[in-house]
Amino acid sequence: MDDLGKLKEQAQAAVDGASDPNGLELVRVDLLGKKGRITSLMKGLSGLDVEARKEQGAAFNRLKNDIAEAIEARKTALETAELDVRLAQEKIDVTLPSRPEMTADGRIHPISQTLDEVVAIFGEMGFSVAEGPDIEDDFHNFTALNIPPEHPARQMHDTFYLPGDAQGEPKVLRTHTSPVQVRTMQAGKPPFRIIAPGRTYRCDSDMTHTPMFHQVEGLVVDEKTHMGHLKGCITEFCRAYFEVDDLPLRFRPSFFPFTEPSAEVDIGCSRSGGELKIGAGGDWLEILGCGMVHPNVLTACGIDADKYQGFAFGVGIERIAMLKYGIPDLRTFFDADLRWLRHYGFLPLDVPSMVTGLSR
Ligand code: DAH
Repeated sequence: MDDLGKLKEQAQAAVDGASDPNGLELVRVDLLGKKGRITSLMKGLSGLDVEARKEQGAAFNRLKNDIAEAIEARKTALETAELDVRLAQEKIDVTLPSRPEMTADGRIHPISQTLDEVVAIFGEMGFSVAEGPDIEDDFHNFTALNIPPEHPARQMHDTFYLPGDAQGEPKVLRTHTSPVQVRTMQAGKPPFRIIAPGRTYRCDSDMTHTPMFHQVEGLVVDEKTHMGHLKGCITEFCRAYFEVDDLPLRFRPSFFPFTEPSAEVDIGCSRSGGELKIGAGGDWLEILGCGMVHPNVLTACGIDADKYQGFAFGVGIERIAMLKYGIPDLRTFFDADLRWLRHYGFLPLDVPSMVTGLSR
């Protein structure tokens, strides 16, 4: 074997012997660097005559290219191996169940849990979630909902009034989630099928009232929706939420300025032995208000009341949470007592869904 052949063999052995990218770099400098072996050979060419220089030069170049190629191939192999090791070390099995100690302390507040459950049920029925501001103006909270100034319903709401804006228009903390109906209809085109969960405020505080509480509003408007749809939707919701398939419901005629006709809905329960149980039992419990959207409301929101119709409802979240989870005192919701939260709260990873179940 000639000298170049030997040199190539040695070079290949050195390249193969490099066990990491740094070692390989040292080999490259030794062979191809400015003071490297191949470079010195090239320098020696200047002493040769033209023909020999041509021949030798070409042979050196081939050798140089072969070595460069071998280094490149080794580099890729080393990098791949390094990546494989890292991938194996950093592997996370995302299918493993979470460790209980990771979620031992935090709890989801029953209000959040109940809101999530309500959203899951109506989400399944094709509703989307709409939002509106907590600080409302008189038009959205009252006037557009067919509650004109001086209407006695305004007194019923124990409104918190806030200083007016630059135009002197009074602002209020919304007394219900119904203004989100107005905002939704003003901002879009029918059909509408939304729920609006959120905080509401009334200047009232005793055993059964807190100045801040939560409601979920519902609104369905299209050309054909009628009272039968309202009954079906509310029945479906109550049975899903309370997880009682044959839960009896009663629609009682009632009055709200923004619906006509209006109804209050009672669910069946029993109170025998002093214990409240939701389900068939001869007794009734009021849980929500609803009705067919009043044409005046549609008109105030810019919707053609001759063409469109629909229903609306409003549910008190604390109330349905207390009933389902046996929480006896409304005010404890807002005491921020960790012992209470540990007792009544929910595990963060038990996300309510109609597929995996609402509550566990
Ligand atoms: N806004 C009512 C309240 O706070 C609840 C309500 C009743 C809402 C009937 C509605 C409805 O949308 O149709 O007392």
